[in-house]
Amino acid sequence: MTVEKRFQGKVIVITGASSGIGAAAARAFAAEGGHVVLAARSAAPLEAVAGEIVAAGGRALAVPLDVCDPGAPERLLERAARELGGIDVLVNNAGVNHRGAVEERTPAELAQIVAINLTAPILLTRAVLPYLRRRGAGAIVNVASLAGRVPLPHEATYSATKFGLRAFSFALAGELAGSTIKVAVVSPGPVDTGFIMADIDHVPDLVFSQPMSTAAEIAAQILDSAADGRRERTPSRGSSVMTTFGYLFPALRSRLTPLLERRGRAAKEAFRRRASAS
Ligand SMILES: NC(=O)c1ccc[n+]([C@@H]2O[C@H](COP(=O)([O-])OP(=O)(O)OC[C@H]3O[C@@H](n4cnc5c(N)ncnc54)[C@H](OP(=O)(O)O)[C@@H]3O)[C@@H](O)[C@H]2O)c1
Repeated sequence: MTVEKRFQGKVIVITGASSGIGAAAARAFAAEGGHVVLAARSAAPLEAVAGEIVAAGGRALAVPLDVCDPGAPERLLERAARELGGIDVLVNNAGVNHRGAVEERTPAELAQIVAINLTAPILLTRAVLPYLRRRGAGAIVNVASLAGRVPLPHEATYSATKFGLRAFSFALAGELAGSTIKVAVVSPGPVDTGFIMADIDHVPDLVFSQPMSTAAEIAAQILDSAADGRRERTPSRGSSVMTTFGYLFPALRSRLTPLLERRGRAAKEAFRRRASAS
């Protein structure tokens, strides 16, 4: 089977590329001919993903950094453009969460969620636009969440950042309407990565009521979004309809929540059993 090479020779910058969805996206872009720039804080796993891509015949550059450091967006993009000749796609994927009631979290934890999940993508987006304009076209793909489509208690700050990232993306798409720069959002439900599996006891049951995706499935959506610029992708039509109704009709959401939580608890138990069996 021949693989479609939609990104042949294109330069793609991906934040949070050392694990999970970001690493899967880096592999997938490279498999379609993309030259990938991987950013995250931990150098060793980042170099490992880049090394794997290079060993498979691809082109990859690892740039270890914290996206929240002052000047980090400019440093990352300058290096990408200098070493790979320009930038065609930015994927804002790096994200963190500190789960639990707002009162239980420290001010520093809450501020970190906002800095990584919302401020950094905004600043990276602002910084990448001149590079995309120089190329004459480009795409920005922002990784949000179903928690950005419907408020999620016990993940209130995380939920706020993902709502914010979606709002920023849709407003920016309006600013860029008529240009050749696309802005797209991918809003996953639960994804089988350390992001939720390493903290399974603190993940609200409600999250597990939605179908679980793999990192590779979400990576495929990121590639499709970079290619066609579709406004937003969710894991399924069902999740999309449910979160829209849940947002528009909070009373209905309150009535359905216990039912969904029951379904989520059963799914969570199955994942716990899987983890203890492996
Ligand atoms: N997994 C899910 O269920 C799920 C569901 C919906 C949405 N999402 C979203 O999907 C995205 C990726 O999540 P994932 O599941 O792939 O989680 P993951 O495996 O934990 O990956 C998160 C990535 O972000 C990087 N990162 C975190 N803070 C950073 C910082 N300050 N600077 C640079 N890089 C940073 C991490 O590397 P370092 O720690 O080395 O920096 C890592 O590469 C996130 O935005 C998340 O909100 C995930």
